[in-house]
Amino acid sequence: MGTSRARRARPEDVRALGELSDRVFRPTLPPGAGMPVEFPRLFHADNAGNLYLVEDSAGNPVSMVGTYPSELVSNGIRLTAVSIGSVATLPDHRGRGYATEMLEMIIEDHSPHHSIMLVSGGRGLYARLGCVEFGTLLRAWWEPADWSDTRVTCRESAYPRGDASMLHRLYQTEAYRVLRTPIEMESYVNATTAPRFRARPAPGRVLIAEREDTAVAYAVAAPGREGAAINFLEWAGDRAGLLSLAQYALRQMQGDRVEWRFQPGDRTLGGLLAAHRIPHEPCPNQGTIALLNPERLLNEVNPWIEEQTGQRLTWQQGYQVAWSGSPPAEVPSLPTEPSRAALTRWFFSADGVNVPLVDTGGLSYI
Ligand SMILES: CC(C)(COP(=O)(O)OP(=O)(O)OC[C@H]1O[C@@H](n2cnc3c(N)ncnc32)[C@H](O)[C@@H]1OP(=O)(O)O)[C@@H](O)C(=O)NCCC(=O)NCCS
Repeated sequence: MGTSRARRARPEDVRALGELSDRVFRPTLPPGAGMPVEFPRLFHADNAGNLYLVEDSAGNPVSMVGTYPSELVSNGIRLTAVSIGSVATLPDHRGRGYATEMLEMIIEDHSPHHSIMLVSGGRGLYARLGCVEFGTLLRAWWEPADWSDTRVTCRESAYPRGDASMLHRLYQTEAYRVLRTPIEMESYVNATTAPRFRARPAPGRVLIAEREDTAVAYAVAAPGREGAAINFLEWAGDRAGLLSLAQYALRQMQGDRVEWRFQPGDRTLGGLLAAHRIPHEPCPNQGTIALLNPERLLNEVNPWIEEQTGQRLTWQQGYQVAWSGSPPAEVPSLPTEPSRAALTRWFFSADGVNVPLVDTGGLSYI
């Protein structure tokens, strides 16, 4: 491929990258008014070094890949991840290997520091680099019902940024989450007011359930793409409060149904759904994942694996791991093919140990 054309951005490049991203992902908005508002931490001068770009001969960026480092909490497991978003090449410059080259550079740069890479999409471009589909979540949906919890009052946040620290306290109680600083939380909730939040026809709405004037749950509701289902892209707090928010969203947003996803291990919510006959079914997590650093991943997940199986895994070399003793009968056998994709699938799907991960659906981790 010759000399490398890709480089990491500098603070002065960030504005042009936000505009490039909008030309590709939000073409109906003025460049700069969409993606940088929706992903303010990604397109922040402080994150410039995590943005990758390729320029044309005049020095204008024509292709970019955004990355954002994060720590994920999954029921006590802590995972170091780099998240990938805003993978965009201007139409006239596609098919020249720019996105591939930047992603290869990202894998090399980030492998020492993060055990996994989370990618917002599932294209061939990512699959060729070893990214695979992952996870098992549950998706629930509910139609307007004659149900209310009289102890709870619901309201829409008029000024999400002002409610950020209260929402942050609820978010922190979730067993599956991305570690977020107060500034990251404030940026995220403020981003819901962006005109095309998560490519929806209108901004997201932050709904809050209160009991005796104390917030007990919240949901970030996005109007459905085809006008029908409302999606809760992120939610946290009391599960009965969540059900109240679901009916509130249906009334306020005139939806036919509301959908949200939850963890299979969430017994409280599972019990409530059964009691109210609210349908739900398994679904994969959103996007794709790739293992970056198997040795590091083992440090992070071995305590959990040992809790499940009584065994630990040891790193051999490359993409090969082995059990410390005889392989546990209840776990599918280790992949024979020593590839990034095969080992990633074994760790993060039902073909192997299926390490649980936060719901990536609302892209709230980037
Ligand atoms: C996806 C995208 C970033 C790829 O950028 P790129 O610099 O052309 O990527 P590469 O040259 O490394 O080639 C990889 C992809 O381009 C495709 N490609 C090859 N020649 C092409 C051409 N002349 N025109 C368009 N796509 C071409 C390849 O088939 C491959 O696509 P795949 O992922 O479906 O297998 C670019 O097409 C784009 O901006 N698309 C719209 C935004 C988007 O969908 N982003 C991904 C969100 S998950």
